[in-house]
Amino acid sequence: MSIEVRKLGDALLAEVVGVDISKPLPEEARKDVYQAFLDNVVLVFRDQPLTAAGMVQFAESFGRLEPHITKKYNHPEFDQLIVLTNQNEKGEVDPFESKRGNKWHTDMCYREVPARATSLHTLQIPDAGGDTLFANMYRALEAMPASLRSRLEGRKATFRYGGRAADGQARLEKNEQQAPLVAHPIVKPHTDTRRHSVFVNPAHTVGVVGMDDGEALELLEETYAWCMRPEFRARHKWRFGDTVIWDNRCAWHKATGDNPLRQPRRFLRATVADN
Ligand code: SIN
Repeated sequence: MSIEVRKLGDALLAEVVGVDISKPLPEEARKDVYQAFLDNVVLVFRDQPLTAAGMVQFAESFGRLEPHITKKYNHPEFDQLIVLTNQNEKGEVDPFESKRGNKWHTDMCYREVPARATSLHTLQIPDAGGDTLFANMYRALEAMPASLRSRLEGRKATFRYGGRAADGQARLEKNEQQAPLVAHPIVKPHTDTRRHSVFVNPAHTVGVVGMDDGEALELLEETYAWCMRPEFRARHKWRFGDTVIWDNRCAWHKATGDNPLRQPRRFLRATVADN
């Protein structure tokens, strides 16, 4: 290996050292980083501030970038990036923007081809709070009681942006259409490792195909309660200069949403497609 990988969490999350991500990665390092990403699910690279062009180049080393479903946050120069911020147009820390991403989810699960990876790079972080949590859905499945797993195997769930929330429609921009529901297996094989993981999540899952709504909701809630157990999780405390990339195919993520000092929190964010 041309890089060093330091595990930070028992369930997932590792730091990669010995690689300069502000430059194009040599092929051997790129392969090693990708393997570390498959093995550890979430990677952090520290103390390497990136320009927006540098962030595009880094994220593209994992695959093709896919613009985000909401256009409002597009980066002014690079439409492959959004600026994830808790600030409104006036630059004020905004209660609505502060709640974005606060529910456990995976990205683009509401599309036929869900995201391979998502990456965040720090622009500005608060002095307290504002962490990101991750949960390993391979582990959640592998440790799941057989009685619950047998009720999920062979079933598909439906997804849309915003999930069951009544405001799912309202959260779309004016020029965007609510996309039709898409279905994915609840127990889904990873497109690289072929390992199975739990694919439903509380933010974007709507129901279970062929199951009445009450029964589906009960099954989903039981599954979420299991997947949220602390032993499957890791917490990332941001430092300026951090770049994190996670595997959307087998991990949930969420912002903790706490910001006791009400300070700005801003990231460059890129989503890598899985095709
Ligand atoms: C997200 O990318 O969905 C939110 C993560 C965060 O803001 O910490």
